[in-house]
Amino acid sequence: MKSILGASAFLGFPISKIDAENNSIQELIDKAKRDNNGSMFGFKCSKIEKVRIGIIGLGNRGNTLLEMLEYLIKNNHAEINGLSDLTYKKVNLASEKISSWQRKKIKLFYDSNDDWKKMCKRDDIDLIIIATPWNLHAKMAIFSMENNKHVGCEVPIASTLKDCWKIIETAERTKKHCMMMENCNYNEEELWILNMIQEGVFGDITHTEGAYIHDLRGLLLSDTYYQDQWRLNEHINRNGNLYTTHGLGPISFYLNIARGDTFSYLTSMSSRELNLSKAAKNENHPIQSYSCGDMNNTLIKTKKGKTILLQFDVHTGRPYTRINKVVGTKAVHDGYPSRLYIDKENIPSWGHNWLNKDEYNLFKTKYKHPIIKSLEKISEGFKQGHGGMDFVMIYRMIRGLNLGIPLDINVYDSVMWSAITPLSEISVASKSQSIIIPDFTAGKWRDYSSLEIMNNII
Ligand SMILES: NC(=O)c1ccc[n+]([C@@H]2O[C@H](COP(=O)([O-])OP(=O)(O)OC[C@H]3O[C@@H](n4cnc5c(N)ncnc54)[C@H](O)[C@@H]3O)[C@@H](O)[C@H]2O)c1
Repeated sequence: MKSILGASAFLGFPISKIDAENNSIQELIDKAKRDNNGSMFGFKCSKIEKVRIGIIGLGNRGNTLLEMLEYLIKNNHAEINGLSDLTYKKVNLASEKISSWQRKKIKLFYDSNDDWKKMCKRDDIDLIIIATPWNLHAKMAIFSMENNKHVGCEVPIASTLKDCWKIIETAERTKKHCMMMENCNYNEEELWILNMIQEGVFGDITHTEGAYIHDLRGLLLSDTYYQDQWRLNEHINRNGNLYTTHGLGPISFYLNIARGDTFSYLTSMSSRELNLSKAAKNENHPIQSYSCGDMNNTLIKTKKGKTILLQFDVHTGRPYTRINKVVGTKAVHDGYPSRLYIDKENIPSWGHNWLNKDEYNLFKTKYKHPIIKSLEKISEGFKQGHGGMDFVMIYRMIRGLNLGIPLDINVYDSVMWSAITPLSEISVASKSQSIIIPDFTAGKWRDYSSLEIMNNII
């Protein structure tokens, strides 16, 4: 018990209450010792000259991801062989869009809730891209790997600890890539900061902050935006940080998580819920009560003593932010808007000002990430998605498969960033008790290794 709850705590309820399954706490701890081996670190598959893709889910996100493939298809790096959703209209619309980029006909799967499985079983597909509601991600990723497919899955890749373990076990056994497509790791600002950290500009990092603060009330309550309002349903019974990865993905790269450091334990607290229910009442929405607090704060401590504050609020009317704060011994960055402070060493009184625009721009130019520099030229004229990061992410995933090199985000990263959601729910439900974060890497996090995104400039 000690190891997941921390020395003083026993929650007094089975983890299954929140994890929605029957694992006891002890079972989850034992899994860490027994069922995985860390063998997917540095994993490379054989080169795939042209990656043959099947996409499940052609809603908002599936269509954006599709557009990111135009360049790769036109340059013979990829082709789309299958599309699956629940209606002919959705798959056909997507198929028509693709027909101007590739001649090859696409097989469509839309007959039932399980038709996607037929697509995953085909032998003319190498990679399944998943852009469906959260509760389908783990089972679709696992089924795809079991059927010999690599996986690129939207965020988060899993919603329960049990599924986190299953994903790792499956990837290790089937030897398939399983990359959670966390696009924020590929944003120009985040890559710039990562590059500065790697170049020593920040010195040693002590603290970071990230967030998903995005007023989604209108979209959550809309009848049509999310299929069957799946995203609103997540807020009815769950309470914690339900969307960790946009903030935590980049921070994990900043802190070398799984490559020399790892998450140790967390504590999580949610505020009361007011704003979503108020909006629901105004809209006369049939559901007007939600468990998920408006604002969740989760604090994570790493094994090497760094702290991470992760915030989540999609209920409150306020400007978007992922915060993107990094505090080091030599520099500090704060996002939204991006500001940089450089500590002037050896001066007794250091001042309190952010760099001025000219000084800031010098750093911006000097430390621009090499991937951004190299892709700026080729991506011209193609759709970019979220200011460019979606294109960079899809390009890196497909070119990585073409070249048979390790992908930037491996199965351990994918699971570790996602597992913070169910762990935050456990903490929130137990008066913010400290919860030990299981080691999903089988101890491999101790091996310092450099980030693929810094090494393989393609
Ligand atoms: N990374 C990002 O910036 C970003 C942005 C938006 C959404 N997302 C993620 O993308 C995912 C999808 O979100 P969305 O906004 O596109 O939602 P959406 O509701 O618009 O799309 C989901 C699609 O999945 C389809 N679907 C559901 N069940 C299916 C099944 N059994 N077989 C085949 N298709 C099925 C739906 O019909 C729908 O078209 C979510 O995980 C979300 O978190 C990520």
